[in-house]
Amino acid sequence: MKRMSVFFCAALLVCTIMAQSALADISLPKPTSTGGDGIFALIERRASGTRGNFPNGDISDGELGTILWATTGRNRGDTGWTVPLAGGRPPYVKVYAVRRDGVFLYDWKNHALAEISKKDALADITGDGFVKSSPVVLVLVSDPSNLGSMARLNDGNALAYTAAGAMSQNAYLAADALGISTRYMVSMNVDGVKRELKLKNDEAALCIMPLGKR
Ligand SMILES: Cc1cc2nc3c(=O)[nH]c(=O)nc-3n(C[C@H](O)[C@H](O)[C@H](O)COP(=O)(O)O)c2cc1C
Repeated sequence: MKRMSVFFCAALLVCTIMAQSALADISLPKPTSTGGDGIFALIERRASGTRGNFPNGDISDGELGTILWATTGRNRGDTGWTVPLAGGRPPYVKVYAVRRDGVFLYDWKNHALAEISKKDALADITGDGFVKSSPVVLVLVSDPSNLGSMARLNDGNALAYTAAGAMSQNAYLAADALGISTRYMVSMNVDGVKRELKLKNDEAALCIMPLGKR
């Protein structure tokens, strides 16, 4: 009897530890599609957050979800996205969100954050103090597997950078409409990004974009 209860206690402990360390996805609230300043006002004042004075106020899941949706979400049923993608392919640039509570991949199909790890990896991906202090850093990563035959016809890297340009500009405008600053940056710790985002060999980080509420 005593041996049985020791066994059940051990099993319970293992289950508890597994439940705590199991990766969990986060459903994001429906993106905001109204409010904020008009598009011409946003374009007129578009600017990068400054390195010396970058804000680091918290960002809610709703605000992050709206920025991620603007960056590479669906806006016309199953096959229409908020940015132009070659040949109408599904997004071949992925967006990761690195936060204090973990590393997440934006799942545009379900408008959710897929958890990659529970680690605070901000200091591993950058040497810039103001980026480390940001509550969220987006990382845009090329995903050649979604290019299909386009990868053979074109320079896949050029297609990925073209998409990243459109995506990052959408992120700037959506973020600003929510009172959030961002900055397109190519300087990053490439090895740290690869390791902490668990990237495959053929996937490359294109840029990082810290976000901070003003
Ligand atoms: C391709 C590209 C790479 C950039 N890389 C960095 C970077 O590594 N670090 C940084 O602090 N800013 C970087 N920036 C941000 C620029 O420095 C910033 O956009 C520029 O100062 C112009 O300011 P504005 O965006 O407010 O017009 C980059 C911008 C671009 C377009």
